[in-house]
Amino acid sequence: MKEFIGRSLEYQRLVSFLKGSVASFIIIKGRRRVGKSTLVERFAKEFPKHYVFTGLAPEKGITSKEQRKEFCRQFAKQFSVPEPNYNDWGDIFWALAERVNKGRILLFLDEISWMAGEDRTFLPKLKDAWDRFYKKNPKLILIVCASASSWIDKNILSSTAFVGRISYTMNLKPLPLDVCSEFWGKANISAYEKLKVMVVTGGCALQSA
Ligand SMILES: Nc1ncnc2c1ncn2[C@@H]1O[C@H](COP(=O)(O)OP(=O)(O)OP(=O)(O)O)[C@@H](O)[C@H]1O
Ligand SMILES: [Mg+2]
Repeated sequence: MKEFIGRSLEYQRLVSFLKGSVASFIIIKGRRRVGKSTLVERFAKEFPKHYVFTGLAPEKGITSKEQRKEFCRQFAKQFSVPEPNYNDWGDIFWALAERVNKGRILLFLDEISWMAGEDRTFLPKLKDAWDRFYKKNPKLILIVCASASSWIDKNILSSTAFVGRISYTMNLKPLPLDVCSEFWGKANISAYEKLKVMVVTGGCALQSA
């Protein structure tokens, strides 16, 4: 991984959930390229086991079926099993439950708004799996992430189905200017030049540079 900069408060907040005696369900939202996936990737180092599932970008023609198939493909790769052929998110979440029911585990569903796609059963089935299985592993941390904040607000945070289930919601903001400056390391670049780059990138795209 490239050098990880800043985010100490956000990181400490996530680390605080490691001390908990119950499973945690954490939401991270924030604009595109702000550093959501990178923060979780970094946090994953705290776990002996972590599993990451990422939704497919919603290009024209990507269907719910393809989202499920892609999830099954990532499932097979991460658990070293033949690729399952589930047509129902309930089956997928149940299969996952068998593998995350014990021990310190991070389960990360990245780009959850894409993953859910047009399938209206996705969130109810995730909620059901949380209630039945995932929350019963006190050392499990489930993180879901999306840049579509309004989707998270509408479908999870304002949903009666998820009331009382979300442990913490992090709204990740761009890095502050003094922290952004660390991207240049020891290079001899004037503060004015750095500021010009940050004005253009908003401190976000900069992170990919
Ligand atoms: N704290 C950080 N330190 C160093 N590089 C970072 C940091 N945060 C993000 N980056 C870099 O910035 C780029 C964007 O980060 P990332 O992919 O995590 O953003 P994101 O919020 O998940 O974006 P998207 O919504 O598009 O998935 C990546 O190249 C990543 O390596
Ligand atoms: Mg991301």
